[in-house]
Amino acid sequence: MAKDIDWQNLGFAYIKTDYRFIARWKDGAWDNGELTTDNTLHINEGSTALHYGQQCFEGLKAYRCKDGSINLFRPDENAKRMQKSCDRLLMPQVPTDFFIRACKEVVKANEEWLAPYGTGATLYLRPFIIGVGENIGIKTAPEFIFCIFCIPVGSYFKGGLAPSNFLVSEYDRAAPAGTGAAKVGGNYAASLYPGKLAKSNNFADCIYLDPKTHTKIEEVGSANFFGITADNKFITPYSPSILPSITKYSLLYLAKERLGLDAIEGDVYIDKLDQFTEAGACGTAAVITPIGGIQYGNDFHVFYSETEVGPVTKRLYDELVGIQFGDVEAPEGWIVKVD
Ligand SMILES: Cc1ncc(COP(=O)(O)O)c(C=O)c1O
Repeated sequence: MAKDIDWQNLGFAYIKTDYRFIARWKDGAWDNGELTTDNTLHINEGSTALHYGQQCFEGLKAYRCKDGSINLFRPDENAKRMQKSCDRLLMPQVPTDFFIRACKEVVKANEEWLAPYGTGATLYLRPFIIGVGENIGIKTAPEFIFCIFCIPVGSYFKGGLAPSNFLVSEYDRAAPAGTGAAKVGGNYAASLYPGKLAKSNNFADCIYLDPKTHTKIEEVGSANFFGITADNKFITPYSPSILPSITKYSLLYLAKERLGLDAIEGDVYIDKLDQFTEAGACGTAAVITPIGGIQYGNDFHVFYSETEVGPVTKRLYDELVGIQFGDVEAPEGWIVKVD
């Protein structure tokens, strides 16, 4: 039985669910991990996660299908990305099988928090790894904690498929050869101030340009960018300082294989927005959020509309969300059942 929650009006906010998974790494190995009801962590004051940002995280969702079964969307990709984040920050990898088993255990233990089919709400899983244990120097931690908790969520940007407007930031979230491609807390700490500036000016979030030349779009807040051209191209930026979005790579595939678009990863110059008839932000939390307009200096560029979603964006959304909820046939390996 699902909890008695107003599923239609859920936002993206912390809610304490019943169980979380926690595993510990010490002396070169992870233990088996276990479920716990305790939503606090007791860690050493010298933990590297607290002082030197030695931590990384992931985000993925569980979806309730029409037949009552539960889907995870491409959890192996989250596991692989987390392994890359761990390599970048000298942390021990969590093997893919272990990661997926932990995701399944958390979803099963918190099944009542997963919305019924048809509400649009999902269960958001937040895996993370932190460096802990006695330490003071700038070096890798002696111990690590891997944890996954979950929260029921609606849509991240208020308004669902309603377009949002974004402000191009003067700040960078990551350095050219820094940690932008890893999902590590430092990138998000760097984004708090520019994000606040954008929101206090009534934008949904900010757009980051490439940190080297400040001429090309990289990220839309905590989502990737895509644009649709009049001649049926789906274009999304490529850069070593962008977080490789699993949603973005899924859309690149669907745009080509299901919609017959020319799907391209390449440069998106901020002064060449005219080429796009539609644009969007994509990510696990954002799903697909149409971009109404972008403010860049004194120019405000409107794509399709500030109030309506464009037709290609809508088709991509229907295809992606249909696959996630099990209504549309998924490419092989994209869905992992929680059983
Ligand atoms: C900076 C950033 N870009 C893009 C994304 C979208 O990635 P994904 O589609 O894997 O959720 C996220 C969210 O994880 C993010 O934090």
